[in-house]
Amino acid sequence: MKKLRAAVIGCGAIAHHCHIPGYLKNRYTELAALVDPYEKNLKEACAKFNIERGYTSLEDLFANESIDVVSVCSPNIYHAEHAIAALNHGCHVLCEKPMCMNLKEGQMIQKAAQKHPGSIFMVAFTHRLYSGNIKARRMIEQGKIGEPYVIRIRFAHQGPMTGWAMSDWFFTPSKAGGGAMFDMGIHAMDLAQFYFGPIRKINAMMATLEKKIEMEDNAILQFLFASGKMGYAEVGWSSKQGFAGVEIHGSEAAIINDYFEGLYLMKGESSATGKRIIRKRMIDKNPCQGGWDVEIDYFVNAIRKREQPEMGLQAGLNSMKVAMAAYESAKKGKTVTI
Ligand SMILES: NC(=O)c1ccc[n+]([C@@H]2O[C@H](COP(=O)([O-])OP(=O)(O)OC[C@H]3O[C@@H](n4cnc5c(N)ncnc54)[C@H](O)[C@@H]3O)[C@@H](O)[C@H]2O)c1
Repeated sequence: MKKLRAAVIGCGAIAHHCHIPGYLKNRYTELAALVDPYEKNLKEACAKFNIERGYTSLEDLFANESIDVVSVCSPNIYHAEHAIAALNHGCHVLCEKPMCMNLKEGQMIQKAAQKHPGSIFMVAFTHRLYSGNIKARRMIEQGKIGEPYVIRIRFAHQGPMTGWAMSDWFFTPSKAGGGAMFDMGIHAMDLAQFYFGPIRKINAMMATLEKKIEMEDNAILQFLFASGKMGYAEVGWSSKQGFAGVEIHGSEAAIINDYFEGLYLMKGESSATGKRIIRKRMIDKNPCQGGWDVEIDYFVNAIRKREQPEMGLQAGLNSMKVAMAAYESAKKGKTVTI
């Protein structure tokens, strides 16, 4: 079979860590070209990964190359424009998160995808591909914790600068669309729905606690799911250490998916008299295996099977609806129904 010709748009940190090496090692793809308007970033990436063809615009890319697969790795403000252009050129699209800046853009992407039903569309919700999250969801489906009722998520690190991003858009509201709530929270909102289904209500509090930026660097979110289950998430850009991961509590047991310490099943009992019995069983010592390392293979597999992935357009739209409702909730100081 002829290899799929891939292009990566935006040659920054995530392209270097995930998309470019992913296409280079996948046996069904060849990395045909890179795109970045900043010549320095373009040249650096082409030289590092030994890619001959680089373009400073999508127009030049599509005018000169026949492309089957596109990864959108540009700043958030360009995601919709680049995803729609790629769909309109008949490409399969892997779009970085958040899928776009607002719901109007989400609808525009949806329209373009509807016009090209043969194109596979995936959103890079990397946490869904961690071995720990895959195993935890399977354990819930197998009834290992009884009836799950509450999910807690904490995704927090020191923020995108310094040491990560190769350009400075993350702290510019007009280019990023939001702060830590949008950047980290979108993963939490997606993962919460991966485990518990659609979120119906959200209550959000946000603040700028540590960074000198014009957007939130911390957010606390409370969820009520359509099923009646509940959840909460803390996301931030000012955390040097502490828990990162997911806890799911059920009627019989809890799953603790500590991204640094491991995934384990926790059973036991405690009483008001102080009696406490705790039984912990380690399930996966390295629950963050997978993720970026398998993302391109997962996407290419979906293309080869001609199956829209679960982390597809609808998942992207669902997370966008919750994110927009979170900003509305924080602004109005009220719970918002989605
Ligand atoms: N899935 C994940 O785990 C994950 C992790 C980090 C970042 N991301 C997402 O990836 C995207 C890129 O983030 P990053 O950390 O690589 O940022 P970055 O600043 O390192 O890279 C962005 C790149 O896009 C280029 N660029 C700017 N304008 C462009 C345009 N008009 N067309 C094409 N390229 C353009 C910049 O020159 C830069 O090279 C963001 O949407 C971010 O949220 C996802």
